[in-house]
Amino acid sequence: MDRHARHRIASRYDGHLQRCYVRVKLASDPVYAASSAVLAGSTLPLLDIGCGIGLLGQYLYMQGHRAPYLGLDRDPRKIAAGQRAAQRAGLATVVDLRCADALDLPPTQGNVALLDVLHYLPATGQLALLQQAARHLAPQGRLIIRNVLREGNWRFHATRAEEFLLQASGWIPGGAQHYPSASELREALEAAGLLMRIETLRGRTPFNSYLIEARHAH
Ligand SMILES: C[S@@+](CC[C@H](N)C(=O)[O-])C[C@H]1O[C@@H](n2cnc3c(N)ncnc32)[C@H](O)[C@@H]1O
Repeated sequence: MDRHARHRIASRYDGHLQRCYVRVKLASDPVYAASSAVLAGSTLPLLDIGCGIGLLGQYLYMQGHRAPYLGLDRDPRKIAAGQRAAQRAGLATVVDLRCADALDLPPTQGNVALLDVLHYLPATGQLALLQQAARHLAPQGRLIIRNVLREGNWRFHATRAEEFLLQASGWIPGGAQHYPSASELREALEAAGLLMRIETLRGRTPFNSYLIEARHAH
């Protein structure tokens, strides 16, 4: 996505700080482009769990995706900010954002995204959420997970420091609960009948982030 498109998306959000955050996030974090590549050509609805301010929905529409998008987040401030941005873009009926907990999902079937959300749930909640996400996958659906993984490297410690600051700033109330390891995720996804592919996905961030794509084993 070029600079012009990033600025158009940012201009839909409230105030200088939030617009600045959106511009920097879209320019530095490859997660939206990676999700768009996984979803390319799919007409299945997308359930974006822990959608924050709905950036993935805005990004996908700007990139030409027209499949229905439903974003859920437990933080009413982020949902309200995302809804205002969608209204300003004339996308209120396309980028559907609702306030809900990740463990209280509507009965959709399609693709599912969990971008930087899992570690805000305790270990047992993560297992329950992965099982629910698998149940919401259509037979040809894709589950896209981006998360920091627990590893003994400096990137993991940099991520923990950032999470501490995010919680202290009030941006993510409650903060991180449990950082999963790659083997924990693999075990949980395989138990839910899914096959997974994993790769690093950091872009220009210092964080220990990975992209996991899972699908039904059939
Ligand atoms: C780091 S943000 C990621 C936002 C979005 N996925 C993105 O990548 O642009 C994590 C989001 O997860 C949400 N979240 C954390 N725990 C949640 C839960 N149990 N149910 C729903 N949303 C949750 C937070 O409110 C926050 O908006």
